[in-house]
Amino acid sequence: MHFDFDHVIDRRDSDSLKWQRYAQQDIIPMWVADMDFPAAPVIQAALQARVEQGIYGYGLPPAGLITALIDYHKNRHGWLIHPEWLVPLPSLVTGLNLAARAVGEPDGRVVMATPVYPKFLSAPTEAGKTRVTVPLKQVEGRWEWDWPALDTALQGADLLLLCNPHNPVGRVWRRDELAQIHALCAKHGVVVCSDEVHCDLVLADDVQHCSYATLGEQALDQSMILLAPSKTWNLAGLGCAMAVIPNATLRRQYLKAMLGLVPHVNVLGYAAAEAAYQHGEPWRQALIDYLRGNLDAVTQALDGYHGLRLTRCEATYLAWIDCRDAGITSPTAFFESVGVGISDGAEFGSPGFARLNFACPRSVLERALQRIRTGLAARTGQ
Ligand SMILES: Cc1ncc(COP(=O)(O)O)c(C=O)c1O
Repeated sequence: MHFDFDHVIDRRDSDSLKWQRYAQQDIIPMWVADMDFPAAPVIQAALQARVEQGIYGYGLPPAGLITALIDYHKNRHGWLIHPEWLVPLPSLVTGLNLAARAVGEPDGRVVMATPVYPKFLSAPTEAGKTRVTVPLKQVEGRWEWDWPALDTALQGADLLLLCNPHNPVGRVWRRDELAQIHALCAKHGVVVCSDEVHCDLVLADDVQHCSYATLGEQALDQSMILLAPSKTWNLAGLGCAMAVIPNATLRRQYLKAMLGLVPHVNVLGYAAAEAAYQHGEPWRQALIDYLRGNLDAVTQALDGYHGLRLTRCEATYLAWIDCRDAGITSPTAFFESVGVGISDGAEFGSPGFARLNFACPRSVLERALQRIRTGLAARTGQ
């Protein structure tokens, strides 16, 4: 089946958060994590069918969605989700913030590895808790956990917010790494909230996503897994995610934290999610192929160019670029000056880095890469 990811759709005058930031400016937005591709035809068809009915009252997760989600995760990721473990949510960020509120003491400690998606950084403080960060370290160009530092950070903590695969460094945590995280969390009695929204966006062909939930009974009992089709199938604006919480006590605490605050998931989000999990696999595979090509283009154009360095992006459509040796002190200012809008590493806890979203038609990507190369060459007069 052929899907046309090359087709350029003008989003400048649309409701797009990504594109509105630079309305009226000649800046290609490559910041927030949504893709410039329309949803898969099967998803469009499901949405049209739902609109055809025309009634948009309060919704429940359709039985077809529950079945499709369970089958998908069983077949692709080898774990069996029980329907009663599922808590529908309007967004992953809601899920992260609920975890920070629902687990542990009111003045507890919440641990995470940095650099990390900014909403991880803010979740503990929004909940009135203490944030404890453990910097990841680079070992031969690859991001790794600092085990002694994690061990220390988990002492007296309640919760670890895990990003698996990890935004922004693009690592797909291996089973042995997750087992080590689990061993340390079990030692310190720490619950894990594993955000696995990027689990179906693995680009490297020599790694496989391993869900924290597959580490065994004890890990399952002391964890909550956050899932959504939103990144993979580009449905973020439809707001449909799930927390999977096997432990009934944790689930009750979580539901209590939601009371009166978290709205119902909208019915179009449910319809799209069901279609994605049930029929979206051919489109996803074609997307992965296309994103691999885009990542190759980014790597060839930027890695080593005038001091820029890329670390290996095993998953996500977000390149993590070390700009420090290029003498770029403000990545946002530099990239905007050449006509490209990125996310600044400082927001993730790593000043001097840039996160570049390469999920766009190849022609748009090539234009952006050319702008960056020309701008860098002009700075150094070469
Ligand atoms: C790791 C991670 N979690 C959560 C989100 C946001 O999810 P949502 O839009 O469902 O809140 C993102 C968005 O980029 C993300 O990368």
